Amino acid sequence: MRLIVPKVSPGRYAAALFKERLNKNKNLVLGLPTGETVVEMYAEFARMRKNGEVSFQNVKTFNLDEYAGIEACHPQSYCSFMRQIFLKHVDMKKENFFIPGGMAADIEKECLDYEEKIKNAGGIDILFGGVGHNGHLAFNEPFSALRSRTHKVFLTKDTILANSRFFTPPQTPPQTAITVGVGTILDAREIVILAAGFKKAEALRAAVEGPVCAKWVISALQIHPKAVIVADAAACSNLEPGTFEYFKNLKDEYSEIEKKCLSEK
Ligand code: GLP
Repeated sequence: MRLIVPKVSPGRYAAALFKERLNKNKNLVLGLPTGETVVEMYAEFARMRKNGEVSFQNVKTFNLDEYAGIEACHPQSYCSFMRQIFLKHVDMKKENFFIPGGMAADIEKECLDYEEKIKNAGGIDILFGGVGHNGHLAFNEPFSALRSRTHKVFLTKDTILANSRFFTPPQTPPQTAITVGVGTILDAREIVILAAGFKKAEALRAAVEGPVCAKWVISALQIHPKAVIVADAAACSNLEPGTFEYFKNLKDEYSEIEKKCLSEK
């Protein structure tokens, strides 16, 4: 696993990485996240599209999760988030956008079908994600099976509380969701996880320095051949200085992308 703490924001770095990969493969299949941390990545996607630097014409996207029990058009659904922040601003074909159906009558079938759709698209080339302060990836809460596939989850109290900031009373935040599994995530050819702020520091320590364990789902990235965490300094504040130094001094394709970002400033 690679950690990079770029001199630009994680979102800006992630978008530059996307552009780099897209230049080599116009038919990318992406895994896409929601959350505050990734807002800047989407803003960059929109900016790059506006400038004609990238095209999403042949790109397919699979969202990582969606609340269960709320309509896709609910203002706080992840589908609405994607429409507002991403779909409105890029030239994607509607039929190439996928997100689990949180209102599906048969949730189990919905989950199986979602896995099948990913498989039929040829698998995910790059999966972008955020991380919960409890280390969750998508909605795979602590103690999720590390080989799980797309499934329904009962959200932890912590997560419901964290997400309640988006729901104003009398709206109540959903208690359940559909998420791709940890196994689904690990099947992606490349994984790029964004983390920002002190709230993520404990999860990051577990991800980078801890043992692989279901308590900290993000630690599963350690067994992936091409996983990178893109973090800011605050999110790295619990790391040992030696860990930070080690990754800071690495020269590889990920440090090259940072250089490109800086030269375009
Ligand atoms: C939600 C999403 C996760 C995301 C997390 C982080 O829980 N289901 O996929 O990683 O939010 O959100 P934020 O970036 O707002 O901290």
